[in-house]
Amino acid sequence: MLPILYLPLLFPLQVAALMDGLSSTPPMGWNTWNKYGCNIEARLIRETADIMVSKGFLDAGYRYLNLDDCWQSNDRDYDGNIIVDRYAFPEGIKAVADYVHSKGLYFGIYSSAGYQTCAGRMASLGHEESDAINYANWSVDYLKYDNCNFRDGISGKERYKRMGDALKATGRNITFSICNWGSENPWEWADEIGHAFRTHDDIIASWESVLEILDVHAQVVQYGGPGHWADPGMLEVGNGALNIEESRTHFSLWAAMKAPLILGNDLTHMSDMIYDILTNRKVISVNQDSLGVPARRVVHVAGNLDIWTGPLSGGSVVVVIVNYGESERQIPFTDAIVDYYGEKIQVEDLWTGKTSQMKEGMMLSSPIPPHGCTMLKLTNGTSIPYSDSLTSNASKNHYPPEIMQNDIDTSKLEDVEQTLYEAEALVNVVSGLTLRYMDCLSWSLCGDYWTRRWGLRLRINDGEETYVYLRKIGDLKAVKEFSMGLYLDRDINSITLDNPEANGPSMDSIILKKHPNSNFNTSKGAVWTTGFSSEDPLAGDHWILYTLRCIVDYMLDAAIFACGISTFGFVIYLLYGYFSRLYRHVYQPVGDTDIGEYTLQNVSETNTSIA
Ligand SMILES: *[C@@H]1O[C@H](CO)[C@@H](O)[C@H](O)[C@H]1NC(C)=O
Ligand SMILES: *[C@@H]1O[C@H](CO)[C@@H](O)[C@H](O)[C@H]1NC(C)=O
Ligand SMILES: *[C@@H]1O[C@H](CO)[C@@H](O)[C@H](O)[C@H]1NC(C)=O
Ligand SMILES: *[C@@H]1O[C@H](CO)[C@@H](O)[C@H](O)[C@H]1NC(C)=O
Ligand SMILES: *[C@@H]1O[C@H](CO)[C@@H](O)[C@H](O)[C@H]1NC(C)=O
Repeated sequence: MLPILYLPLLFPLQVAALMDGLSSTPPMGWNTWNKYGCNIEARLIRETADIMVSKGFLDAGYRYLNLDDCWQSNDRDYDGNIIVDRYAFPEGIKAVADYVHSKGLYFGIYSSAGYQTCAGRMASLGHEESDAINYANWSVDYLKYDNCNFRDGISGKERYKRMGDALKATGRNITFSICNWGSENPWEWADEIGHAFRTHDDIIASWESVLEILDVHAQVVQYGGPGHWADPGMLEVGNGALNIEESRTHFSLWAAMKAPLILGNDLTHMSDMIYDILTNRKVISVNQDSLGVPARRVVHVAGNLDIWTGPLSGGSVVVVIVNYGESERQIPFTDAIVDYYGEKIQVEDLWTGKTSQMKEGMMLSSPIPPHGCTMLKLTNGTSIPYSDSLTSNASKNHYPPEIMQNDIDTSKLEDVEQTLYEAEALVNVVSGLTLRYMDCLSWSLCGDYWTRRWGLRLRINDGEETYVYLRKIGDLKAVKEFSMGLYLDRDINSITLDNPEANGPSMDSIILKKHPNSNFNTSKGAVWTTGFSSEDPLAGDHWILYTLRCIVDYMLDAAIFACGISTFGFVIYLLYGYFSRLYRHVYQPVGDTDIGEYTLQNVSETNTSIA
């Protein structure tokens, strides 16, 4: 008789994978973008190839050396071939590829399923076949295919399939990395087309970015597997913004989630600690494990801790425990957390190398520092096979009861002031992501960054849709809390969330608070949460509304920019006024003769009084 929150799972599990034998384990390599952006040239590629071999990255498994954006010019020649940027690559791409191959590495290249790449260079939409033939001719082994600058309303699946087919038709083995940022639910179709699919917008070098990606990736990581890896983005380890613990956590989770491990830092300069993270063989072997099953997030307490577990070949299990808190802590360990049972389970800490035998209730060998993690490999036990009940069971019962309130026992709602529902427990998958709306301007100017809004469309039962923003325009800091008022009916309620702009909102949890005046016993029962509600008058499905939104967005940005500049100018003007007045006041005589007489008088008076 009480409200029940019910969020339906909107898509079915697993479709057939590309069975060409490529990428049976996640690809590993290095890519130019995260560190160098558009500033790339042949010399950098040759030097990096040298270092990947001489410093042991190739031995550790990093096999691909991948160009990102900006190897192209922004035009094609008369035969329709992309003209290479001759300043950056004077001898063309083939010469560089040959050099990379001579070192025993594979060579990767980049384009976009649009008319221009994200940096405005020439891209491949409409030229898939001839471009693929050229890539094969240059002996390219890997293509990262981005999602910028398409306009015709052709679906992502169609645009990516065209290139996938073109690559296949070349007869060369080319790993195809689908980089469409999680738009249009790639986990539903990408595995038939490519070998990896991005599940999220680009990573940036910040802890918040890592956390936000995890919240999305956790919902879809299970769609990855051999030959079709779910890709949370390239690595930011060594790019300065993550501290050493955060770097270790980032790397551990990417390894356990079976993400492609594509380095993005300057390989010529890195501390020993960073080097040791990136080349930890035990962690890498988890990533490259032949079973190829991604670890899943089985416990998540926002801002507090995560536990990820996944099976490995030979009946072992990997466990990554992350401390999101700001102080060091020890985590008690039970087999129930990881669903791995046995009399004599061996525990190996993959970072410290220590091994021990697991005992119920034992503390992990050492306290986990803030933002740090412990990564363990458990052997000699038996795991319960994966099932979908695992996630809900884990967040429901296992850990630690006093801070979890996940059972959707709505009878509690009448008695308590507020209840937190973990997103996992609500089966809130990042779902319903449909179209990525056009960007009004190209990415390099403002497009993606300024117009990309992390919105959420919310509907309760059959009511009106409400559009809410989870982050502001131009605000890269990702994690936000949002509250709004909503009415729930008595009995069962269905809350549907989706995102018309296709950039997945990272729902972490829903907190329901009871409004002081709420009353369950009427048909429109309760008013939940105070907060504010936000409706976007421009959100809608009509082209006029899209256009209006782009214009408004652009004008708004221009206005903010102009305000910023003029405010700055005004402050300078005030400061100038202030100091020039001060200057006049102290030094500048008002009239030549007056000041002379006055000073003399003053001096003589003073002398008199002293005497
Ligand atoms: C392509 O890769 C598959 C799987 O690794 C391999 O069996 C095949 O020989 C490769 N083909 C070429 C032309 O290298
Ligand atoms: C590759 O391109 C060169 C010219 O740039 C051409 O001579 C050669 O035949 C091409 N090879 C293939 C396999 O298409
Ligand atoms: C593995 O566990 C079994 C009991 O489950 C135990 O008898 C055996 O000694 C263990 N092996 C190792 C190497 O610890
Ligand atoms: C989840 O919990 C239910 C009931 O507590 C139990 O029957 C089921 O076996 C559990 N599933 C797993 C995978 O532990
Ligand atoms: C609401 O109805 C239930 C029974 O349906 C009753 O026990 C409860 O006291 C009522 N609450 C109020 C505030 O009237």
